[in-house]
Amino acid sequence: MKHLIAPSVLSADFANLQRDIELINSSAADWFHVDVMDGVFVPNISFGFPVMAAIKKYATKPLDVHLMIVNPDAYIDRFAEAGASVITVHYEACTHLHRTVQLIHAAGCKACVALNPHTPVALLKDILEDLDMVLIMSVNPGFGGQQFIPNSLKKIAELRSMANQLNPDLLIEVDGGVSLLNIAELVQAGANVLVAGNAIFAADSPLDMIAAMKQLDSGTMTL
Ligand code: DX5
Ligand code: ZN
Repeated sequence: MKHLIAPSVLSADFANLQRDIELINSSAADWFHVDVMDGVFVPNISFGFPVMAAIKKYATKPLDVHLMIVNPDAYIDRFAEAGASVITVHYEACTHLHRTVQLIHAAGCKACVALNPHTPVALLKDILEDLDMVLIMSVNPGFGGQQFIPNSLKKIAELRSMANQLNPDLLIEVDGGVSLLNIAELVQAGANVLVAGNAIFAADSPLDMIAAMKQLDSGTMTL
């Protein structure tokens, strides 16, 4: 399949959220990536349900909701009701991960598990068949605009070969420091959903940047 591009709303201009959402609607991007941070699981607080509702009101593409929160089980139904298509929880935040994945599916959403940079992909072996997607964090979660951690490439390749055996349809998403400089090798390693915040919203033309990321046409872009 052609890889998907998921612009991270965290890097949008919150004072012009409707404008930035409509920009993504009109672009070649596939999903909206929505980062929810609770100030406990990660050292930052982003936004919650009211902002999510505002995004949903204007977005014409699926919402990919990345929960960087402790105790996500308590909020899964509310995020589903708020319009999430995909719900991602962190491996490191879920004691009973299998139950959490069942809750996400029961709420009618696709289930994704995120791994922090230090968490080995092998830990997902016994749940991989139940997942729709795995998110490889390529920065420590909490902030946009950080530098890509190169070891993430090895994790993507290892996960793709594990998925070939256990769940060939598994989507692999990468989040953190993704740009035109690394997107081709990420896709080659086996990623098929690319999140990008700073690379898109700080570009001179976010629309052109999204088109280039979709095409993997780095040769024509001025970086
Ligand atoms: C970081 C968030 C990311 C962030 C990515 O914790 O999960 O989605 O917005 O931003 P960039 O692409 O700027 O690294
Ligand atoms: Zn994210």
